[in-house]
Order: sequence, then structure tokens, then C-alpha cells
Amino acid sequence: MHGGGQHDLAVLFVCLGNICRSPMAEGAFRAAALRSGLDCAVDSAGTAAYHVGQPPDPRAIAMARAHGVEIAGQRARQIERSDFYRFTHIFALDRANLEGLRARAPRDASARLALLLNAVEGRRGEAVADPYHGDEADFRAALQAINEGVEALVARFVKDGVSLTL
Ligand code: 4NP
Repeated sequence: MHGGGQHDLAVLFVCLGNICRSPMAEGAFRAAALRSGLDCAVDSAGTAAYHVGQPPDPRAIAMARAHGVEIAGQRARQIERSDFYRFTHIFALDRANLEGLRARAPRDASARLALLLNAVEGRRGEAVADPYHGDEADFRAALQAINEGVEALVARFVKDGVSLTL
């Protein structure tokens, strides 16, 4: 993934199914990084395997598209051991998934783990709620929180680079 070291930074977003929140986060972060000229590899994964190989939920695709971000080409995958070494930072969308990551992390993992919303002033410790069993308003709320998170995150990476700790 480092392609001969072009990327210092490599960021992974993790939710439960990798079909709703983390695909929207991956798309939003990629767009925000591009706008800011931040060179960063980005991917997403789920802690669960239920939806492996599937495209994002149609409601997530529609919500991202309404905000100018295309995520239909993504395919769900489950977090794997190598992710804890390949990525410099892994951001969970909620606390349950952060705990799932901590439980799976090898002892010598190099990736830093944190909640996405820790990047946002005043929202430390907050979760992006799971919209899967909800409606359009829940997907809108999730994307709004994700957008706040990724905008703050990109600004922090521009300032602190690979040493960012949240
Ligand atoms: P995500 O949403 O974690 O944001 O992708 C979910 C997707 C699927 C399930 C739960 C949450 N599920 O239980 O299948």
C-alpha cells in the first residue's frame, strides 16, 4: 500500500458491518484530504464479517452521493491482523468497535487507535450512532457527524502529521 513510501500516513476507518458508517467515513476523508492536499492512504473495514464482499448500504451510497462523494465502488471487508501494522491510524466509529479493535490488536501493533470524534473539539468520547436499523434521518445524522470528524481529522493531520495522537 505504501507504493514505495509515497504515503507516510495511512488511515483506516472501522465500524461493525463496513457497509454504512465506515464507507461514508472513507469517502468523506478521501475527499477532504484531496481538498487539503493531504497525502494519505485511506481504507475502511468492519469488526464483523456479516457483509464481507458487499457494496455499501444503498442508503449510505445515496447520502454520500447527495454530498458529492461516490462510495458505490467500495466492498466490505473485515479487519485483519495486518491492518494493525499497515495503517498508522485506525479510527473506530463507536466505542463498541473501538473495544473490538483493542481486543484484536496484536501486542506489538504499530497503528494508533482512537474514536473518530475524538478529533472534534467538544466531542471527545462520542460515537457516530449506527444508522443500519434507522431511517434516512439517521443516515443524514451519521454523515453529518462523520463530516465533522473527518474535517477536524484532516486539519489535525495537516498540523501534526503522522505523530498525531487523539
Ligand atoms: P455499519 O452498520 O456498522 O455502520 O456498517 C451496520 C451494518 C450492518 C449491521 C449492523 C450495523 N448488521 O447487524 O448487519
